[in-house]
Order: sequence, then C-alpha cells, then structure tokens
Amino acid sequence: MTENQENLHQRIEEKFKAIGQNPDTHLEGLIWAKPITYWDYIHTDSLLNLQLQRTTLPDEMVFIMYHQINELLFKMILWEIDQVSDAAEIEAAFFTEKLSRVSRYFDMLSSSFIIMGDGMEKEQYMKFRNTLTPASGFQSAQYRLIEFSSTELINLIDYRFRASIDRDTPYEHAYDHLYWQAAGKDHATGAKSTLIQLFEERYKEEFLHKMEKYNTTNLWTKYKQLPKAVKTDAALIQAMRHYDYTVNVTWVMAHYDAAAKYLGNAEATGGSDWRKYMHPKYQRRIFFPELWTSEELTNWGQNI
Ligand code: HEM
Repeated sequence: MTENQENLHQRIEEKFKAIGQNPDTHLEGLIWAKPITYWDYIHTDSLLNLQLQRTTLPDEMVFIMYHQINELLFKMILWEIDQVSDAAEIEAAFFTEKLSRVSRYFDMLSSSFIIMGDGMEKEQYMKFRNTLTPASGFQSAQYRLIEFSSTELINLIDYRFRASIDRDTPYEHAYDHLYWQAAGKDHATGAKSTLIQLFEERYKEEFLHKMEKYNTTNLWTKYKQLPKAVKTDAALIQAMRHYDYTVNVTWVMAHYDAAAKYLGNAEATGGSDWRKYMHPKYQRRIFFPELWTSEELTNWGQNI
C-alpha cells in the first residue's frame, strides 16, 4: 500500500471503531455498492413527477412549476439562514457570506417573477384559477419561516397592535397579531377565512415552535452580536439593506404587479382585500428598521 492508502485505511478504521462498527464489513460493502448516477443522486424522476395539473390548460403547468421553483429557493434560503441561526458564536465572515447567498437567492426570485407576470395567457389563468380556490401562495409555510428567521417578531406584528406587544407577550398572542392575519379575515365580515383556517390547522403548531426558536436566533439578532467594527462596516450594512429591500419591496412589487395584471379588480383566490394588503406602502413590513433613516421609513414603498 502507498503511504496515502495506509493513511486512508487508518482513518477509516478510526471512524468506524469510534462508533463500534467493524471497518472491514464496511470496506467489503463497497465491493457491492452500485455506481452512483446523476439521476439517482438528483432524484430527477421523482422531481419531474411532481407537476400534476388540475385542468387541461397548458399554462397551468407554468404556474405549478414556477411555484415549485420558488419553494426550492425558499428552502435554499432557510438552509443558509439556519446555519447562522444555529451557530453558537457568530463569525463575521461566516455571517456576511451567508447573508450574500440569501440575498442572491431573493434577487433571483424577484428578477424571475416576470415568468408569472408575462408567462401565462390571462384567459387560461382566469380559467384554471377557479379550480384553485381557496388556495393561495399566502399559504406558503416556508415564506413565513423566512420572515420569522430574518427579523425580530415585533417587526412582523400588525402596526395597529405593536404598542400592546413586547418580549413577554405569549407566542400564541403574538401569532394572532401577526401582520398577515389581516389577509386571513374576510374583509366584509371580519371572520377568519377558510384560507387561514386550513393554513393554521396544518402549520400553527410548527409556527409557534419556530417563532420561539428564531426569537433569539434570527438574522437581525445575530447581526447585533457581531463585533462593533463589523456591524458598522458600510458594505455589510448595504448588504443588509439590500436584502431587506429586495424581500419587502422589490419582490413584493413584482408579485403585486403580476397579481394586478391577472386579477385587475377581481377577488383573490385566497379572498383577501389584496390591493391594500399586499402593497408595501400599507403593509410596511421591514426586517431591519434600525438600518433605515426615519425619512426612509416614512417613505417606505411610497414612490413605486
Ligand atoms: C399570477 C400569479 C399570482 C397571483 C395572481 C398571486 C396573487 C396573490 C394574492 C391576491 C395574494 C393575497 C392573498 C390572497 O387573498 O390570496 C397572494 C399572496 C401571496 N402569494 Fe401570490 N400570486 C401569484 C403568484 C405567486 C407566486 C409564484 C408565489 C411564490 C411562492 C406567491 C406567493 C405568495 C405569498 C408568499 C403570499 C403572501 C404574501 C404576504 O403575506 O405578504 N404568489 N398572492
């Protein structure tokens, strides 16, 4: 055996002995292992079998696949944020690298939204959307997790209730006053809509758990733990502001414009008063308000 092979053998022995396993059994298993292929590794067959239309209209496929692409990117975003969130001590370079990745993914989501806006025939959309009621992208759980993991809970509370909520407020109470609860009420009667009832049945427990987890480990809290010299670094502040603006204005407007193009004055499938609910100038969702001037905060989403 070469020196390198002996070294490898030694490390394999150490690895398996440490977990009470016989290294020779594992080495012998390698003789029978199948060679890996691209399609087994990426699970191409499973992935390409997940696009199931409810109608015969071809553009429904664009709608389904683009949503799935969004969910994959949401997963990539959470994958990066969770590494920051789970790090016991946050290193400046690590934080900056992860923030850049998350930001790039959201840039991609924003710039690609034209695939929705321009990529379907309105006549087809107006037909297949009737088969989707009362579902809505509003029910994307990963989107909500990105919010919880990006900022402190208070920044996600409906402005009307912020004064009555602080760090001692029970999570369940905070949950009931999240800004997006407003879209889950029938705007005519004030009753909880089916859209949100179904969403809560499926995810509320997980959300309460994640709200607690991210309460002390969200991106903003982690940023505040960085050394002063890093926190005040102009490039990092710019990157934080860019992420905030991309998620909460650029993406929101790309989404809003697509919705306006298809829906016009029509009701949303989820049933919200969507024109008011979704526009950043009303919603004013801001992850890192401390990084904006009071003038920028006042004018949030006004000039677009
Ligand atoms: C033609 C395409 C689309 C239209 C017309 C549309 C329309 C809407 C409307 C009207 C709402 C408000 C809630 C409701 O009453 O349903 C909403 C919410 C939402 N949609 Fe879409 N949407 C589209 C595509 C997408 C895509 C591709 C995604 C990506 C996952 C998405 C994600 C969301 C999210 C996360 C919300 C909640 C936003 C918030 O709470 O601020 N939508 N959508």
